[in-house]
Amino acid sequence: DAGSAQRRVPIEPQRVDAPLTSSAVLLTLALTDAQNAVATVRDVLSSVEDITKNVAFRDLSAALACTVGIGSDMWDAVTGAPRPAELHPFRDVRGAVHTAPATEGDVQLHLRANRRDLCFELERQLLDRFGDSVRVVDETIGFRYFDARDLLGFVDGTANPVGAALPASTIVGTEDPAAEGGSYLVVQKYVHRMDAWTALTAEQQEAVIGRTKSDNVELDDAAAPDQKAHKTLATIVDDDGVEHDILRDNMPFGSPGRGEFGTYFIGYTRRLWVIEKMLERMFIGDPPGKHDRLLDASTALTGGVYFVPPAELLAGLGD
Ligand code: HEM
Repeated sequence: DAGSAQRRVPIEPQRVDAPLTSSAVLLTLALTDAQNAVATVRDVLSSVEDITKNVAFRDLSAALACTVGIGSDMWDAVTGAPRPAELHPFRDVRGAVHTAPATEGDVQLHLRANRRDLCFELERQLLDRFGDSVRVVDETIGFRYFDARDLLGFVDGTANPVGAALPASTIVGTEDPAAEGGSYLVVQKYVHRMDAWTALTAEQQEAVIGRTKSDNVELDDAAAPDQKAHKTLATIVDDDGVEHDILRDNMPFGSPGRGEFGTYFIGYTRRLWVIEKMLERMFIGDPPGKHDRLLDASTALTGGVYFVPPAELLAGLGD
């Protein structure tokens, strides 16, 4: 009918909304100066969807998905597309005690599945095709820990938006036509000092996070007006009183044998400034000086900002 002919065809995002899985790979890549590096990267990125489909089909129940983020410095060369309005490199956030550093990265891949072998296979095939066009800056293997807990023992991801609120808080809309259908991705690799964390009582830990540990029940903000909990510092309300959510796909990682215990923070957002504001409140504090006590047991080793273009833009890069 005439109505449907005029209806706007929605722009298909990448699988930003893919479910949390039991396994993930976070791969940070830097372009090399090898001959044809940019052309090779464009070519591989354009085929990520097809390659993922091929591997995913070997066990559809494992929900394999891969999203691709492109860094600010490489955006123009790799995409040739208009720049998303907010895209810029990660900006260090320096508090009095803790710093969120910016680190290297041109392409960020986020692979996830309920089978470790599917993530492994997809990563292998992609790196094979990239060849010497990229260098692996960081490879982190994430895993689910019990009922979606981080290694600090708390359920992580509860406040994520669901249903219609999910695309509304993660996918850029008509406010920035050049970026419509895409999403900003912020990643940070944190390692925990477990001795500092376990030196706290469960009640003290609960006050740091703002939720109870065993039942994951939210604590009342009013109980701690002076030193805000993590969940309160990470709650962003704009001047009009509107709260802005983000999607977090945090994954635990680590190796007890190496004494490594970490959380890979993965945040997708429609508005980059919202995550930047969260980081300011966590690292500088609200009021300044009252930083997030989570940081007293956690160190951010990396920091990157990427834009996850719509699926069609990505698929078209090989043309
Ligand atoms: C909430 C852990 C870093 C943003 C939470 C919760 C936990 C947690 C346990 C409460 C449950 C939930 O709602 O998911 C961690 C750990 C981190 C980390 C272990 C790294 C060491 C960050 C960073 C950001 C962030 C870097 C943003 C820049 C949020 C938000 C919430 C939250 C938005 C929900 C707040 C609400 O209740 O509305 N986090 N987090 N987190 N975190 Fe984090």
